[in-house]
Amino acid sequence: MKGGLPIVVLVSGRGTNLEALLAAHARGDLPVDFRAVISNRPGVTALDRADAHGVAAQVIDHKAYGDRAAFDAALAETIDRHGPALIVLAGFMRILTDGFIERYRDRMLNIHPSLLPDFRGLHTHRRALEAGVERHGATVHFVTPELDGGPAVLQASVPVRAGDTEETLAARVLEREHRIFPLAVRWFAQGRLTFDGRTARLDGAKLAAPIIDPHDIEDEPLPEESRDRVD
Ligand code: GRF
Repeated sequence: MKGGLPIVVLVSGRGTNLEALLAAHARGDLPVDFRAVISNRPGVTALDRADAHGVAAQVIDHKAYGDRAAFDAALAETIDRHGPALIVLAGFMRILTDGFIERYRDRMLNIHPSLLPDFRGLHTHRRALEAGVERHGATVHFVTPELDGGPAVLQASVPVRAGDTEETLAARVLEREHRIFPLAVRWFAQGRLTFDGRTARLDGAKLAAPIIDPHDIEDEPLPEESRDRVD
């Protein structure tokens, strides 16, 4: 696990995004050094996944702290001991204080299950179905004090199909999350993706809008006329 950009991953539950990051690393596609996986909940699957890959798994149970500031202080102290150059929020379900976010303002990435700026916050799949959108998806973004409001880096979208339930839609989106999160973390680890607390850049160019995962374009049906040409 040595030799890449030192990272700490924060989790709260299932950990399939963590698994995608660990798998990308195992394939040699992610030049990072997993210093630790930290969960705010004991006993979650994400901790077992870290263990299975030989990564230190730690619990800082938020219930043991009187308030958010006390929990965040304990979390920051533990994170700093690992000296990460990037903090990855992979299904971390706690709202962080502004002070915590400021401390890591240029080096914290999150994955959110919607096409931001649509559907910030919780229950994104249910809300997308209720809103009747045609496409839904996921966004990797830098974390700022505004909830799910930091600069979007990379997005993948999927079609919403007739008969979709929250579960079927969530599963379709999750598959894309597992592709785009390791990709964005890789860009950061390679020094291609940067953030100064205001502006996100990829290869030095300001990211005015997120990069769209090229797979989105491939899974669109071809327009009639180009289909004729292809045939
Ligand atoms: C994912 O849908 C992610 O977008 C959101 O929380 C969920 C975490 O899933 N932030 P997992 O723990 O990575 O399986």
